Amino acid sequence: MKRTNEQAPITAEMSPADLSRRSRTRRSWAEPYKIKMVEPLTMTSPAQRRQAIEEAGYNTFLLKSKDVYIDLLTDSGTSAMSDRQWAGMMMGDEAYSGSENFFHLEEAVRSAYGYPYVVPTHQGRGAEHLISRILIKPGDVVPGNMYFTTTRLHQELAGGSFVDIIVDEAHDTMARLPFKGNVDLAKLQRVIDDVGPERIPYVTIGATVNMAGGQPISMQNLRDVHQLCKRYGIRIILDATRAVENAWFIKDREPGFADHTVAEILFEMCSYSDGATMSGKKDLLVNIGGFLALREEDIYDQARSLVVVYEGMHTYGGLAGRDMEAMAIGIAEAVQDDHIKARIGQVEYLGQKLLGWGIPIVEPVGGHAVYLDARRFLPHLTQDQFPAQTLAAELYVEGGIRAMERGIVSAGRDPNTGKNHHPKLELVRLTIPRRVYTQAHLDVTAECIADLYERRHTIPGLEMVYEPKYLRFFQARFQPLVLETLATPDLTPELALAD
Ligand code: F0G
Repeated sequence: MKRTNEQAPITAEMSPADLSRRSRTRRSWAEPYKIKMVEPLTMTSPAQRRQAIEEAGYNTFLLKSKDVYIDLLTDSGTSAMSDRQWAGMMMGDEAYSGSENFFHLEEAVRSAYGYPYVVPTHQGRGAEHLISRILIKPGDVVPGNMYFTTTRLHQELAGGSFVDIIVDEAHDTMARLPFKGNVDLAKLQRVIDDVGPERIPYVTIGATVNMAGGQPISMQNLRDVHQLCKRYGIRIILDATRAVENAWFIKDREPGFADHTVAEILFEMCSYSDGATMSGKKDLLVNIGGFLALREEDIYDQARSLVVVYEGMHTYGGLAGRDMEAMAIGIAEAVQDDHIKARIGQVEYLGQKLLGWGIPIVEPVGGHAVYLDARRFLPHLTQDQFPAQTLAAELYVEGGIRAMERGIVSAGRDPNTGKNHHPKLELVRLTIPRRVYTQAHLDVTAECIADLYERRHTIPGLEMVYEPKYLRFFQARFQPLVLETLATPDLTPELALAD
């Protein structure tokens, strides 16, 4: 746990209240739960892991989970549900229509997020699909604070194109700024001036921004974007997938919010948008589920009609009643300050440990994951040798730890030119599932990364040998490049392995 070491010395003048405050600031926090059920993990040898990653085409998505020791591939659908949520699963009302659990979910979304209309979907991309089909016409432009893979693809499949309006600092892994998820208002204004407001069906706002390293957007920026869009009659659709984590950062970092609850902050954040797409598999502590939430009745009517085609009736949207119940309970648990403090504190713990050893990560540490900066970790590889893909594969071999590439492979190709996008960020995401791993797991993870960092010069890059058409990072296959073709290794200072 994080300790505050810079304590004020105890002096004779201190009152009992001063002493109590001092001890409170020194005390570590711990998770606000205890463990009731465990799932055994498989331990493997380096030789077994070499074989497993080769069979998986050097793509961590294609590994079998039984071959993984610590699974940091994603925080999506991998969280531990509470005993309350499991109890809720037993209360599933599996009626084809009008399930009681749907009404619980609707009420939970209304009270936590403030949107009156809710359409359940099987997961986040189901909601993205619906809103993209309803609002985007061919030739439209959808600005957003950095792309997300599935969100952008649905916008493109509906005939739109995505334009990035995030602040420049989001692309700089070393810029230590509190709100690197902010929209650059001048960039947004430029898009509006260039294409005209009538060709912008909505602006997507991610909170926090996954591809930027889990970086938050500030409340002030949300207000400013809202003002600007209102002037032109442009809607804002919030990607609320990790908005609770964003609310914590606002409480922690933005002046004026320290005394607000995370629940209050979340509600205000949502008030600056016209609707939200949601993957309940993250903040909401469920293994499956999502929703589209809206303020406008006529758009809701269209969504209610369309969801029947792709997901299911508008009162289940591809989910079992029990899944909706677990998500409704998860909403109430997700917005508890103690829960979110421990969740983000755990991610911060891993990040600080790596930083202490001089390992290059995205700073500040994000909400749901620590991101290794593969460009600085493997400087001898060019981006076309897939440094982040390489690093993720090698980390698996090193310690059985599964992470995810978030770089040139994830960025895919421009649909018009067919050329690879070359994102500035070339990252490996160590994603922390909620309420799943202990601090000791994170220590082991950090130690494996440190060992890998020491032998980084010996790591050859990869070449892609199979590329699927859509969202290639999920199924692409690779093979190692021959080591002799590598450039001279970069000799960065060795690790300071002091604790
Ligand atoms: N938006 C964001 C910001 C996401 O991170 C995700 C999923 C989605 C939308 C889509 O939701 O998976 O429920 O369909 N992110 C997962 C991840 C896959 O690992 O980051 P989904």
